Amino acid sequence: MSSESVRVVVRCRPLNDREKAESPEAVLSVEPQLCQCSIRRPGGQGDPPKQFTFDGAYSGEHSTERLYNDTVCPLVEGVTEGYNGTIFAYGQTGSGKSFTMQGVSEPEAQRGVIPRAFEHVFGPSSQTKNTKFLVRACFLEIYNEDIRDLLGNDTKQRLELDTGNPSCEQHTE
Ligand SMILES: Nc1ncnc2c1ncn2[C@@H]1O[C@H](COP(=O)(O)OP(=O)(O)O)[C@@H](O)[C@H]1O
Ligand SMILES: [Mg+2]
Repeated sequence: MSSESVRVVVRCRPLNDREKAESPEAVLSVEPQLCQCSIRRPGGQGDPPKQFTFDGAYSGEHSTERLYNDTVCPLVEGVTEGYNGTIFAYGQTGSGKSFTMQGVSEPEAQRGVIPRAFEHVFGPSSQTKNTKFLVRACFLEIYNEDIRDLLGNDTKQRLELDTGNPSCEQHTE
């Protein structure tokens, strides 16, 4: 897995109470060792499940800490060595993107990828004597194909996709 420059992992969140009440039958199962998840058609007892294979698969039992250590940590480590790295969370509304990226402070194991990455980059363990680091950051939202600069003066302003995003440079630290 480490030789791939693009890795795709899936994280399946647990059902919430409403979903459990609506559909007590579990149709999803995750096999982390095989990096697979499989989905059964509701009511289709005899049908074989549809299987999907990724570079990593996490179920509702797995914490963000585990996902970070397995999947994100090597990438952030590469960033501290000067490589570019991107974590891109993709999924429909309610699938757990914010939970994974921003997270919750309690329990500690569910702190998000963003605060963990910040700690990784700026925390005491990454401080090196006689070495200067330049960190450039931008924070963009893509929603319904509109792009907004969340660090810009007007966070409601829509940016053009094909002209790049020069305003990002203003937020260099
Ligand atoms: N791995 C998880 N474990 C427990 N609860 C989760 C998990 N992922 C998401 N949730 C919960 O599911 C709901 C939707 O998640 P959220 O991150 O807001 O979705 P999104 O940002 O993709 O729209 C939230 O209430 C969140 O706390
Ligand atoms: Mg969200």
